[in-house]
Amino acid sequence: MKNYVELPTNTAYRLINHGSIILLSTRDENGVYDIAPIAWCSPARKEPPKLLAVVGHGHQTYKNIIATGEFIACVPHVSQIEMVQKTGSVSGRDVNKFSDLNIQTLPGKKIDALVPQDCIGWIECKIWDRLALDKTDIIVGDIVHAAVDSDAFDERLLVEKPEGKTLHHLGGHLFATPELVKKL
Ligand SMILES: Cc1cc2nc3c(=O)[nH]c(=O)nc-3n(C[C@H](O)[C@H](O)[C@H](O)COP(=O)(O)O)c2cc1C
Repeated sequence: MKNYVELPTNTAYRLINHGSIILLSTRDENGVYDIAPIAWCSPARKEPPKLLAVVGHGHQTYKNIIATGEFIACVPHVSQIEMVQKTGSVSGRDVNKFSDLNIQTLPGKKIDALVPQDCIGWIECKIWDRLALDKTDIIVGDIVHAAVDSDAFDERLLVEKPEGKTLHHLGGHLFATPELVKKL
């Protein structure tokens, strides 16, 4: 029998916090691009395909998404941890993260936003709906285009290969990357 200890309710999310982190890439109404890490995201529907992300009202990312109605969810490779931490420690209100952090990019295909080079893949979305909470919105996006590194994906993410190593936020400054437990 395991020894279960009570987990404070405000820490319970850390039990399930470690889905792949995404970088939400957006632009404002003047065409200025921004990008920020979002740990709280999830698939929301298979068909028609949708995803959701929880975005704080204070973020430039939030303002951009509301202004344009669209965004790209980029999936960083574990090697891009520094970019994730740095883009999450400053705001697009104050700096241009792409030029300041020298982030090389590709253009989105259907959404006008930037994809960091060498990320594992990306998912382009238009807002389908949003649920306003207290200081955040749950933003649900319709997936209109997606692309992935062909070395990292074959019907599923190939987490057993170096190319498929996603980045998972455990909380604070701690991250993890997945391993395959059992081959099918
Ligand atoms: C690892 C990590 C995970 C984060 N996850 C979220 C999240 O799930 N939702 C959120 O609103 N902000 C999250 N943030 C905070 C924003 O990314 C951060 O405040 C960022 O600087 C906002 O930039 P912006 O003002 O340019 O949008 C996270 C930050 C880090 C470093």
